[in-house]
Amino acid sequence: MKDLFDETQINGMELKNRFIKAATWENMADEKGHLTEQLTSVYDEVSKGGVGLIITGYAFVTEDEQPNPGMMGIYEDSFIDEYRELTDMVHNNGSKIVMQIVYGGTKTTFKTEDRVILGPSAVKNSKTGVMAKKMTKEDINDLVKAYGKAAERCKKAGFDGVQIHAAHTYLLNQFLSPYHNRRTDEYGGTIENRARILFEIHNEIRDRVGEDYPVLLKVTAGDFEEGGQSFAESLDVCKAMAKKGIDAIEVSGNIHSTAQEYFGEDWYGYTVKEGAFFKDYATKVAAEVNVPIILVGGLREFEVIENLLQETEIEYFSMCRPLMAEPNLINRWQEGDRSKSKCKSCGECYTEEGNICILNR
Ligand SMILES: Cc1cc2nc3c(=O)[nH]c(=O)nc-3n(C[C@H](O)[C@H](O)[C@H](O)COP(=O)(O)O)c2cc1C
Repeated sequence: MKDLFDETQINGMELKNRFIKAATWENMADEKGHLTEQLTSVYDEVSKGGVGLIITGYAFVTEDEQPNPGMMGIYEDSFIDEYRELTDMVHNNGSKIVMQIVYGGTKTTFKTEDRVILGPSAVKNSKTGVMAKKMTKEDINDLVKAYGKAAERCKKAGFDGVQIHAAHTYLLNQFLSPYHNRRTDEYGGTIENRARILFEIHNEIRDRVGEDYPVLLKVTAGDFEEGGQSFAESLDVCKAMAKKGIDAIEVSGNIHSTAQEYFGEDWYGYTVKEGAFFKDYATKVAAEVNVPIILVGGLREFEVIENLLQETEIEYFSMCRPLMAEPNLINRWQEGDRSKSKCKSCGECYTEEGNICILNR
């Protein structure tokens, strides 16, 4: 029988349990994306808290494109030495650490007047009002290279792997989404074409880091918007990425921060659930895709997670807000206090001085 405290491996990355800290933008890096004491201390605390793997907050791969303030950067080699200190610290505390890498795109309100923001097509973001500049083939090639170089830096800095962020309506999700991607060239149209940039990024990363370095992917179950990326298309992307050699896929949903407004709603033939928002979607992906699947969103109760492990083929469970509320949650559960996470999913995690749970301010 599987156990949440099983020791497992993802492409050679040894994990002491099946709990993962989901990527969490902390808003604590300096203006250029470099580490601060405040940010380092977040990783110190959570890596001492028992979690098997930490996925970092999203790190930007090109200097001129940062969707939010206080994000970590990975756009030049100057980051390698300082991140080596971070990864050494996390390893000494007994966890593994993977860096999430991203190009944001139009889902931003940060310094939008100062920069050109690229997108698959010249589409205005309906939430932020930001207009994308349609990417040329050269822009796409440059971005593919930027992802590859970022991953290579991660490897040099001692990260145990990288995660490509293709969810939450950031650029790669926009390529996958027929709403944002209106292209008629080889990067638009069919889902294979819309996923082409992702395939190219994966190839470029593999060329630079090798087959035996963990490369993970975060996808959305769908856009949860009429005209957006459907779950069937997400499933196709997961299958294709599995064939190409991705090492694990984290299944999220673009409504992650407002999921309570969708509880009980049917989308794409499955239902958004309280307690584990996207469990129906991840269950289906895990049944059909032959790589380890990570579920994220709304996991708060040990028993719920335990049942999911036993009843589905989902192998890993990733939490963001519960570990902001209680960085020591996994130790607590392991030591026998299995009461529910203290996180109330209030969504008040954000402050200008850093993203800190209201329970810890
Ligand atoms: C403060 C905060 C920052 C986040 N930053 C990221 C991020 O950098 N990358 C990402 O993929 N998701 C990010 N998310 C989404 C989480 O990884 C996760 O998918 C979502 O919060 C649902 O999980 P939860 O219910 O365990 O919080 C963030 C969420 C919060 C609340």
